[in-house]
Amino acid sequence: MKVFIILGTRPEIIKMSPVIRACEKNKVNFAILHTNQHYSQNLDKIFFKELNLPQPKYNLNVGSGTHAEQTAKILVNIEKILLKEKPDIVLVQGDTNTVLAGALAAAKIHIKVGHIEAGLRSYFREMPEEINRILADHCSDLLFAPTKKAKEILLKEGISNKNIFVTGNTIVDAVFQNMKLAEQKSKILKELNLQKNQYFLITAHRAENVDNQERLKGILKGIEMINKEFSLPIIYPIHPRTRKMLKEFKLSIPKNIKLIEPLGYLDFLLLQKNAKLILTDSGGIQEEACIMKVPCITLRDNTERPETLIVKSNILAGTNPEKILKSAKKILNSKRQWKNPFGDGLAGEKIVEIIKKSIK
Ligand code: UD1
Ligand code: UDP
Repeated sequence: MKVFIILGTRPEIIKMSPVIRACEKNKVNFAILHTNQHYSQNLDKIFFKELNLPQPKYNLNVGSGTHAEQTAKILVNIEKILLKEKPDIVLVQGDTNTVLAGALAAAKIHIKVGHIEAGLRSYFREMPEEINRILADHCSDLLFAPTKKAKEILLKEGISNKNIFVTGNTIVDAVFQNMKLAEQKSKILKELNLQKNQYFLITAHRAENVDNQERLKGILKGIEMINKEFSLPIIYPIHPRTRKMLKEFKLSIPKNIKLIEPLGYLDFLLLQKNAKLILTDSGGIQEEACIMKVPCITLRDNTERPETLIVKSNILAGTNPEKILKSAKKILNSKRQWKNPFGDGLAGEKIVEIIKKSIK
């Protein structure tokens, strides 16, 4: 059996890492194909190093571009490699352009596709990821749903029960596998002069937020109001997309907000774990906050992670500043006593087991 693991961005490297570990442990013959949709050192190489991942066999050097450019370049290049390598199955994770192109290229030449984190829906089609995840799910043969809820969504869309497997989300594995190391190695709290539970952490990078001047302004105003209300440091590791858009809109970050470069996984895990509150529009961070029992405010009007709303680890605040502040006060007044709905940390192992049984 030959497995091809396709990845391209920061969250895919992190969330594929437990699957790669499980392949190594189970002596599965696998190769990594990196599209290099992300290429900056701190969105890419740092994770291979910290997570101790083998180097990709193929690197497409696709880089940035419009949706069509990025998706098309990946499609054309992956097809050539898949025709040469003839793997038994291609694995993709999540909802990026890399995922859509990888799944589509493989399905069209009759190579089996396994989609990890299948069945997530925000029901908001303006989000590029929503199109990617729907299409990837519908050209996949094995759908690894993180929760029962995700499985129900797939069933409702007509996907056959026999192709869906509820495994938990590999992000739980990644958090469990790396937290101890983060605690031993990371000096980030000291470096940033922070006390445990005495600071807020924010990230924002979604296209529908940061490419929209009004929404981006709303987020910035919201964190300014939070800073005034609580008088605690706010740390903001800024995604390059957001930095670019701040410049384009000539917007500046409110003073007292500490802007830093994107961090490696160990530093970022520790920073999340010890935050009083996380404000984010990231998918993975909504999950990690929930897993680490840190309250989360989501700077969006919808989420494909409704499990976090159900267990009350997360509130959807959108980008209205008053609503952001109100939501922060509300969640800080509630207890951190929810249960993690995303699995037991063995998703990577389960996925590899299922693949071994499905492909002889
Ligand atoms: C992509 C994914 C998004 C995911 C995010 C993770 C799509 C449609 N979007 O968004 O789902 O949540 O990755 O972070 O697939 N840039 C750099 N260095 C890099 C990569 C990007 O400077 O290594 C800058 C470039 O200016 C680029 C911009 O960020 O134009 C956006 O990059 P892109 O890969 O298109 O989308 P992301 O916003 O990173
Ligand atoms: N992350 C990181 N350093 C940072 C910001 C995020 O390591 O400075 C990690 C975070 O822990 C999570 C993942 O990146 O596992 C989330 O990626 P991102 O928010 O870029 O994408 P999304 O999950 O929204 O697709």
